[in-house]
Amino acid sequence: MRLLVTGGSGLVGRQLCLEAVRMGHEVYAAEHEACVDFGIPVKLDLLDLSSIESAYEKSRPEVVIHAAALTDVDLCERHPELALRINSDATAQVAFQAKRRGAFLIYVSTDYVFDGTKGMYREVDEPNPVNAYGLSKLKGEVAVKEVAEEWCIVRLSTPYGFHSRKRTFPGYVMERLVRGERVRVAYDQFTSPTYVPNFCRMLLEVAERSVQGILHLSGRTRASRLDVAVRLADLLGLDKDLIEPVSLSELKLDARRPRDSSLDVSRAMQALKEKPMALDSGLSMFIRSFYGSKKGGDAV
Ligand SMILES: NC(=O)c1ccc[n+]([C@@H]2O[C@H](COP(=O)([O-])OP(=O)(O)OC[C@H]3O[C@@H](n4cnc5c(N)ncnc54)[C@H](OP(=O)(O)O)[C@@H]3O)[C@@H](O)[C@H]2O)c1
Repeated sequence: MRLLVTGGSGLVGRQLCLEAVRMGHEVYAAEHEACVDFGIPVKLDLLDLSSIESAYEKSRPEVVIHAAALTDVDLCERHPELALRINSDATAQVAFQAKRRGAFLIYVSTDYVFDGTKGMYREVDEPNPVNAYGLSKLKGEVAVKEVAEEWCIVRLSTPYGFHSRKRTFPGYVMERLVRGERVRVAYDQFTSPTYVPNFCRMLLEVAERSVQGILHLSGRTRASRLDVAVRLADLLGLDKDLIEPVSLSELKLDARRPRDSSLDVSRAMQALKEKPMALDSGLSMFIRSFYGSKKGGDAV
């Protein structure tokens, strides 16, 4: 496949490019400010709509995976107009170009499109975002449905994995616990933590088989950050007493969070050969890749 991956330097996009290159695909990795590590770099600024057209022109993709976004939830809350421009308006242009050029479009969306009152959301459940980030991503979904011809919207929840320049929540917790430092983690927000390499393999299967519609692609275990921290300490034999449970409200974040935005992944379990991983398997793989990376390895 000839692929264009937007957000090629991001947590998800970087791993996606790595997996796709390993599988032998021709990968164009869209680069904004940070450099991309894998694939053929193509310049892209979602705030400059003409650069979207030129990224398509240079890569002539059969499949586009649109993973670039403004992902800082609190920043989106402080700058909702910017969130809409990047996550929604630019997505409409990405969708328009995909239609014009006959490319299959996969849009990476989020569990934050839901309000979190119910949990274990299915693809047919009604979104109702509670913050500006969730609203901007939902508007991105609407644009994909209205504008693109052939598309899949995949919803991801709390990704974690290895990245050469970024640290995800389990990495942060591990580093503190190993140093014997206390760590404050929320006990009252539930999501479906997703091991990024597992997500990327599922996503590439969606691309290869042109799976259409909405698909929840996350880990298969509903968990709070406290659950994740405790499981990590268990798996590593570290001191759980260093983990201090706090409520979300004590963290004084700018944006409201959905209380339980966990995703039901039954459709993915049935449809895909690569299955959504359980939390323990994902965390075990993460620990291996984390220590591998210290020796110069990469995510497994
Ligand atoms: N992170 C989460 O918790 C989470 C949860 C659910 C769903 N998602 C979704 O998953 C996707 C990937 O997220 P991620 O975790 O990989 O995010 P990330 O690590 O923050 O990466 C975001 C990527 O988007 C690029 N980008 C930002 N602004 C851009 C612009 N104006 N023009 C072009 N590219 C731009 C960034 O490039 P530069 O760094 O060079 O600006 C970066 O490569 C996103 O669509 C996100 O909404 C994320």
